[in-house]
Amino acid sequence: MSKHVHTYDALVVGGGGAGLMAAVYLTRQPGLRTAVLSKLYPTRSHTGTAQGGISASLGNMGEEDSWEWHAFDTVKGGDYLGDQDAIEIMCREAPEVVYDLEHMGLPFSRTDDGRIAQRRFGGHTQNYGESLVRRSCYAADRTGHMILQTLYQQSIKHGVRFFDEFQVVDLLIDDGGCRGAVALELRTGDLHVFRSKALVLATGGYGRIWEITSNAITLTGDGLFVSARCGIPLEDMEFFQFHPTGIWKLGFLITEGVRGEGGILRNSEGERFMERYAPSLKDLASRDVVSRAIYKEIRAGRGIDGRRYVHLDATHLGADVIEQKLPEIADFCRIYLGIDPVTDPMPVQPTAHFAMGGIPTDIHGAVLALDGSVIRGLYAAGECACVSVHGANRLGTNSLLDLVVFGRRAGIAMADHCAAAELLPVGDDPAGRARADLERLWATAGKDGEKAAEIRREMSELMMNNVSVFRTEELLIEAKEKLAELKERADRIAIDDPSRGFNLDLTEAWETQGMVVLAQVITECALHRTESRGAHSREDFPDRDDENWLKHTLAVLRDGTVEIGYKPVSFTRFEPKEGVS
Ligand code: FUM
Repeated sequence: MSKHVHTYDALVVGGGGAGLMAAVYLTRQPGLRTAVLSKLYPTRSHTGTAQGGISASLGNMGEEDSWEWHAFDTVKGGDYLGDQDAIEIMCREAPEVVYDLEHMGLPFSRTDDGRIAQRRFGGHTQNYGESLVRRSCYAADRTGHMILQTLYQQSIKHGVRFFDEFQVVDLLIDDGGCRGAVALELRTGDLHVFRSKALVLATGGYGRIWEITSNAITLTGDGLFVSARCGIPLEDMEFFQFHPTGIWKLGFLITEGVRGEGGILRNSEGERFMERYAPSLKDLASRDVVSRAIYKEIRAGRGIDGRRYVHLDATHLGADVIEQKLPEIADFCRIYLGIDPVTDPMPVQPTAHFAMGGIPTDIHGAVLALDGSVIRGLYAAGECACVSVHGANRLGTNSLLDLVVFGRRAGIAMADHCAAAELLPVGDDPAGRARADLERLWATAGKDGEKAAEIRREMSELMMNNVSVFRTEELLIEAKEKLAELKERADRIAIDDPSRGFNLDLTEAWETQGMVVLAQVITECALHRTESRGAHSREDFPDRDDENWLKHTLAVLRDGTVEIGYKPVSFTRFEPKEGVS
């Protein structure tokens, strides 16, 4: 048994928006001991980079709005692959969670009469697609930052125990139930065993699998990797969203809020090309549509100066709008590009942004096994989870909403579970598997072998070229073959740094091994799905095929291979329809 063993009722793995919302709601159950493990200092979590807002049908801007319209937009935006029962819950609870955050102290931007201000975002409409509606509640372009700070303060105030810079490396799953987790303390290199009655994975996404990404360096899919290794299926992994406007070559996000405020995409001829691709919604069509349009413009030679970017023009908005509503992206452009969006157009290209797929859950965040049964005591929420509210493509501002609605629901369900459940025993050496993995890596220090950074570079370039906005069978088979080679090489990684404390060489090696496996899962799922839907665009199968493919993919790791199965989509009120607005 490890020398460090901790016991809590509830354990939250991940200190971003979903994890902290779960933690805050766990503290509302008197006497419950709750701990958060985070591989970062929690306020550095990636939720903090979310810019444009959180959607809720408040109707604060003199335009009528309703949760049913929000639900319709979400279903349609997700190309009818989203589970409509979960979508209805998310859109119905949206106003309540936004006011909940406001009452916790979140400093939203305001209208002149003091209400929460709202702006337009792609795909959010009035009256079932008739015209765009202002539904995104925002705090300038720092909405995620404000959510994170607010929830962290609340967690501290209510006595949540934080284990900062603890990286989860294994789950303790036995007899159909979760009994805790094993984490690496980054400061010392020691392994810690955390026992709990209930555990929620809220570890975020895995955009770092691609070369150009808006995701921070830490978004390596750890929660998905440790789950998949325990035999938990992963759902709809072929659906990964490319946000149309990342800063060229760097990938950093330029919020869709720029287009929400009236910014325009232009090609090398100065043309507002989205008028051709989506005559009604134009620059605010859904992200898959805009990303594909940008790729097509670049392929047709209309990238700026023949390069792989187009312009996002906000120069007509005026300095006041930019300084007051978009200060963060204005700073980014000045600092990283040396240009001023008040006077210069911004160079942008699609950037790997958000995972629609993940660990399957029910509407209370409970993780589902392959046979659809609940894994007792195990929950997931936020980007690492797939309750399937985003279907094949997410609408902007629905991710912050997903985090807080389903983080809250997971926290409430976990508290109920803890009130009734016993703490179950763990085996004699629960950290054994994790210790063996990490000691194997430590033993390579200074020896000849593959380098994690090189494998990561090759993997991310391969995924960018072969498994991104457009896909074909040929590209996917090539990716599959190269990933098999990369997997073999990843098993032979040798690190340089032998030290125990803050050994980022070691953690990068472990993360790289996990990301290569996730890249294999994504590629296999994409290869099987012979249709185009949402963010999964197969040039060899350009049409959506509802007859054969209106179903979720489930991928399971078995003896080093990826096995693919399917499960039905849940429908309530919206029948599938075709078409781009
Ligand atoms: O463009 C943005 O501000 C991103 C928002 C989102 O992904 O929801």
